[in-house]
Amino acid sequence: MALGIFAKTKVCCVIGDPIEHSMSPAVQNAALAEAGIDAVYVAFKVRKEECKRALGGMRALGILGANVTVPDKVEALACVDELDALAEWIGAVNTIKNDNGKLIGFNTDGLGALNALGESGTETRGKRILVIGAGGAAKAVALTLAKEGRVSEIVIANRTRENAKELAREVEDKTRVKTRFFGLGEGELKKAVGMSDILVNCTSVGMSPNSRETPVPKNLLRRELTVFDIVYNPLETRLLREAREVGCKTVSGDSMLVHQGAKAFEIWFGRKPDVGVMREAMLGELKKKK
Ligand SMILES: NC(=O)c1ccc[n+]([C@@H]2O[C@H](COP(=O)([O-])OP(=O)(O)OC[C@H]3O[C@@H](n4cnc5c(N)ncnc54)[C@H](OP(=O)(O)O)[C@@H]3O)[C@@H](O)[C@H]2O)c1
Repeated sequence: MALGIFAKTKVCCVIGDPIEHSMSPAVQNAALAEAGIDAVYVAFKVRKEECKRALGGMRALGILGANVTVPDKVEALACVDELDALAEWIGAVNTIKNDNGKLIGFNTDGLGALNALGESGTETRGKRILVIGAGGAAKAVALTLAKEGRVSEIVIANRTRENAKELAREVEDKTRVKTRFFGLGEGELKKAVGMSDILVNCTSVGMSPNSRETPVPKNLLRRELTVFDIVYNPLETRLLREAREVGCKTVSGDSMLVHQGAKAFEIWFGRKPDVGVMREAMLGELKKKK
């Protein structure tokens, strides 16, 4: 918990709808307490139509920072005064800093994924990355890895092939990193997995309550692959369990969640939080949900 709430206490928040399930208050308040920072982090339920007014309120009240979650991430783009280059590329804002009344929008989702890979000792430099999915998270991950990860190639595989094609084209246009795209039919998926060094599941397949599902059949996995699933509920998805059984290095989604929050903390307070404390708080929240 925060140290105490006083007149000088800074306020950060998360906005979105639904918001009751958010783990961010527990995670960020644990990090604030550990760092001894006089700030508190709260959650506000904000419908898409109210996003602009809510962010106006952030300016008026001098709220230092905000995280933005579904369904406000795209809406927030048009409500801030300035955009970080990655947020502009991704077309969504998940973190806002109030710089003396000027709201600056960032997107830390992809950086969270990059740092989760880094923490696991996975080198992305020169590697071919397979991103499964072409939705909001896939876009953030693919664009960030292409911009910041020094990767050799981004391969997109998605159920709707047209969406894979569109994302691959966008990544190549914006970053000049070479891309390919595939559908999820068995032959195509086999080819995509076979040519890749790191596989990142950015679909919701395997997420509770559909935890028996997997986006990639076990027989397509090989032990040289690193398998990263951004789904964090359950912590070990079927994809990760089968990858572990095959002998792959695995990275779980909770790590991305913690690192994207850590990046937001750093943007607001100019210092790195204790990621271990944040992870512990998040695992505590996940346990409560069981
Ligand atoms: N760990 C973290 O920090 C973190 C951060 C963000 C998101 N996530 C997780 O990432 C997942 C995706 O989120 P999102 O915001 O990108 O969602 P989204 O924009 O709705 O995109 C969903 C993606 O999943 C694909 N998909 C959905 N159902 C499928 C199925 N049955 N079979 C094959 N593909 C399927 C969609 O393919 P089509 O194009 O064919 O529809 C699309 O590519 C969610 O589980 C979310 O919780 C985790």
